[in-house]
Amino acid sequence: MFDTTSPKDWKMEYTSLGGTGLQVSRINYFDNAEAYGNPRGNCEILFGEALKQLQKTDPYLYRRTDLVITTKFFWAPSGHPQSIQRRFDYSYNGINEYGTSRKHIMESIDKSLKRLQLDYIDVVYAHRFDALTPVLEVVRAFTDVVKSGKAHYWGTSMWPSWRIIQAFHLAQQYNLIPPIVEQPKYNLFDRHYVEDHYLPVFDHPYNIGTTIWGALDGGILSGKYNSGEVPKGSRLDKASRLTFFDPNIPKHKLEKLQKLQLIAQRLETTVSVLSIAWCLKNKHVSVVLLGATKASQLETFAAIKVQDKLTPSIMQEIEEIIQNKPKLDTNLYGPFFRIPNARL
Ligand SMILES: NC(=O)c1ccc[n+]([C@@H]2O[C@H](COP(=O)([O-])OP(=O)(O)OC[C@H]3O[C@@H](n4cnc5c(N)ncnc54)[C@H](OP(=O)(O)O)[C@@H]3O)[C@@H](O)[C@H]2O)c1
Repeated sequence: MFDTTSPKDWKMEYTSLGGTGLQVSRINYFDNAEAYGNPRGNCEILFGEALKQLQKTDPYLYRRTDLVITTKFFWAPSGHPQSIQRRFDYSYNGINEYGTSRKHIMESIDKSLKRLQLDYIDVVYAHRFDALTPVLEVVRAFTDVVKSGKAHYWGTSMWPSWRIIQAFHLAQQYNLIPPIVEQPKYNLFDRHYVEDHYLPVFDHPYNIGTTIWGALDGGILSGKYNSGEVPKGSRLDKASRLTFFDPNIPKHKLEKLQKLQLIAQRLETTVSVLSIAWCLKNKHVSVVLLGATKASQLETFAAIKVQDKLTPSIMQEIEEIIQNKPKLDTNLYGPFFRIPNARL
């Protein structure tokens, strides 16, 4: 018998990325960046090689049409021997190896495609907002990348929301292609971007989707640091080389974590899975990026099922533990944003 249902009716949980027809699940989306890996660029090389090998073992399962592969541009690999040793030291980058100028975007797309061994990338991101490049230049460059067929969509990461709005309207005005997705940080301890700052761009006509990172707060929300000991080989153990993580976990986070752990135990899961399930409950989250460093950490896929256990009363219990719901500013959102179905 033929299955006449559409893939959208199948049991696998898919969601549209923002206002597009691109269907993303929690396991068909792969995040890269030209800046990732040591030396920078190595993440794309390893991903490209792994995909080629997997496609040899099972060409159907790993078919390109079913994968959403992305990368981000801002900090290019400079090739300087010192920058290879010090991954987060960008002082060896030439002035045009940063940012999102047209020159950088055009050079980066070709280099990323080569490292990834791909003919096209599904979504390319401006990894940060570049204060030196006019937004119209960025929109035009990404439009040209998309029109060339080297990418299908473009997005932003950690851009000020009003810059996304500006990009959208410039695209409309000049008949260019607007961004469709933003990649912000979001987790139980850090809610401001998704629950406040980006609210205006989730609504019509922007319809921005999100692919959130840092869902485990760099591993802190896995509970592995609760005892005060830093396990060998963990991210915080390597923190001296990762300048953007503070190796000292604040006491207030540890106290909340111990309480979250009790809820996780009651739900027969781990605090990592609970933390990711909590992110998935937010209707503005299209994809949660998993930063697993070991196969065993992929236990967090269970979050897809654990979501159902996060009933309104459990969500309220979590709310009372974390006590950090962003307070929306009436001056920004208008006086009636608390009414049911208010457009935020
Ligand atoms: N757009 C951006 O600016 C941006 C910024 C950062 C990241 N990202 C993207 O988002 C992805 C995820 O971000 P992230 O790495 O910060 O996310 P994260 O999930 O907050 O942290 C990942 C860390 O959590 C630990 N971990 C993961 N699963 C675990 C588990 N089941 N049990 C225990 N520990 C676990 C690992 O720690 P150990 O190392 O200790 O094993 C890993 O290093 C990155 O890979 C990257 O693709 C984007």
